[in-house]
Amino acid sequence: MNTFTLSDGTQLPQIGFGTYQVTGDDGSAAIRSAIEAGYRFFDTASLYETERVLGAMIRESGIPREDVIIETKLWIDEMEDPEAALERSLRRLGTEYVDIYMIHWPRRTGKADEPWKERDLETYGIMERLVEKGKVRRLGLSNFLPHHLKNILDNCRIKPVADQLELHPGYSQECAVAYCKENGVLPIAWSPFGRGDKNSTTANQVLTELAQRYGKTAHQINLCFLLQKGILPIPKASSAEHIRANLDVFDFSLTEDEVSMLSCMPQTTWLGEHPDYCIPAKASNPDNL
Ligand SMILES: NC(=O)c1ccc[n+]([C@@H]2O[C@H](COP(=O)([O-])OP(=O)(O)OC[C@H]3O[C@@H](n4cnc5c(N)ncnc54)[C@H](OP(=O)(O)O)[C@@H]3O)[C@@H](O)[C@H]2O)c1
Repeated sequence: MNTFTLSDGTQLPQIGFGTYQVTGDDGSAAIRSAIEAGYRFFDTASLYETERVLGAMIRESGIPREDVIIETKLWIDEMEDPEAALERSLRRLGTEYVDIYMIHWPRRTGKADEPWKERDLETYGIMERLVEKGKVRRLGLSNFLPHHLKNILDNCRIKPVADQLELHPGYSQECAVAYCKENGVLPIAWSPFGRGDKNSTTANQVLTELAQRYGKTAHQINLCFLLQKGILPIPKASSAEHIRANLDVFDFSLTEDEVSMLSCMPQTTWLGEHPDYCIPAKASNPDNL
């Protein structure tokens, strides 16, 4: 598969596999299909409760650990003690190290007087020490808008290699993506299909017309658009057909005008969670610790 080069020189496959809600027997089957289809970069988080199944399926595949990239994240209620959070993730994944470790969300309360800058730096500083201890290969961020990211970049010793943001046609966050790129941080698109319901991004007329033009599906046009913008998508799929189709996007390219049209689409399916104002309600499940 084509790769993106991270700021530390690591090559990352251009498409990863998202594991949110990939649980139970169906989850195992989906991850098994993804490995068989050729995915080697997997996104999980302590919040998703999919670290165990991901670790088990990677071991079952027999693929050497060093040939797989595992990205996981610590949740808001774990930010006080990143070392303990990482130990739990490593235990669930059944691995000695994670390839990319991210802070999942930049703010813990969303209240105006929250000292989030200091708190993010404390958490990130401890995560830097986890890199030095060899338990984490590199650091990343998730849902960090330019002002959150600048706080880290201005004060860190180890640069974050990636920032995961909600990105898809109809929610392309051009300002945040440009800031990431100017600073050598790879933008990764979460919910690259806007989670794919019937009112979703992929039902948009521009996408469906382009799909007809190229003999592809709207989902494939969507992924091609993100790749051409220099963004790494991490689609989730449960059907083996979707899993395979989402890798079959490297044999065509959109014109500059088409990319511009998709960039300028009206807003669709923003999932409604703004990093400054909305803190997702979930706490990590103690049963999953
Ligand atoms: N950092 C964060 O805060 C954050 C937040 C949300 C998500 N994420 C990450 O991003 C990943 C992806 O986002 P997501 O799971 O929210 O949603 P998504 O990838 O945008 O959409 C998943 C939906 O699209 C459908 N789909 C996938 N491929 C398809 C295809 N080729 N044709 C038709 N339908 C297709 C899936 O259907 P089937 O399942 O039926 O195949 C599923 O219903 C997550 O799994 C997670 O790893 C991160």
